[in-house]
Amino acid sequence: MRVRCTVNGEERVADDVWAGESLLYVLRERLGLPGSKNACEQGECGSCTVYLDGVPVCACLVAAGQVEGRTVVTVEGLADGDLLHPVQQAFLDAGAVQCGFCTPGLVVAVHDLLQRHPRPSDPDVREALAGNLCRCTGYEKILEAVRLAALRAGGDR
Ligand code: FES
Ligand code: FES
Repeated sequence: MRVRCTVNGEERVADDVWAGESLLYVLRERLGLPGSKNACEQGECGSCTVYLDGVPVCACLVAAGQVEGRTVVTVEGLADGDLLHPVQQAFLDAGAVQCGFCTPGLVVAVHDLLQRHPRPSDPDVREALAGNLCRCTGYEKILEAVRLAALRAGGDR
């Protein structure tokens, strides 16, 4: 089947999509957007988190056919050309990226959190990111990155 949707502000078309194919597969393998990572493909790790019509979802759990006519924003779409989004920059500056596999999903989840809650407490952050697993950092650097991004956005606490 053919799937048409808007991805990172552009109309995109994927052809020959099979019925069981995931949005994650379409993004990575058909549309050339490998930022969203495939770590578990079971909705357990959050590394594939993207926005679907403004709501964060695990792209590995969304059937490609469900995306027809809808709007997707991936981690690539948060940057402004070569200029990283402040959340992306905060992850780099805080040293919250090690292997990087969890990072794209975390960046989208943190972006969503700070839009809804510009001054989150550490427990708020932990709760919001509970679906995003990281095997490398022990999470402390991730918390630092969120604090830094919030601070730079003016959400001092
Ligand atoms: S790859 Fe989608 S949740 Fe892990
Ligand atoms: S940096 Fe490796 S899984 Fe998070």
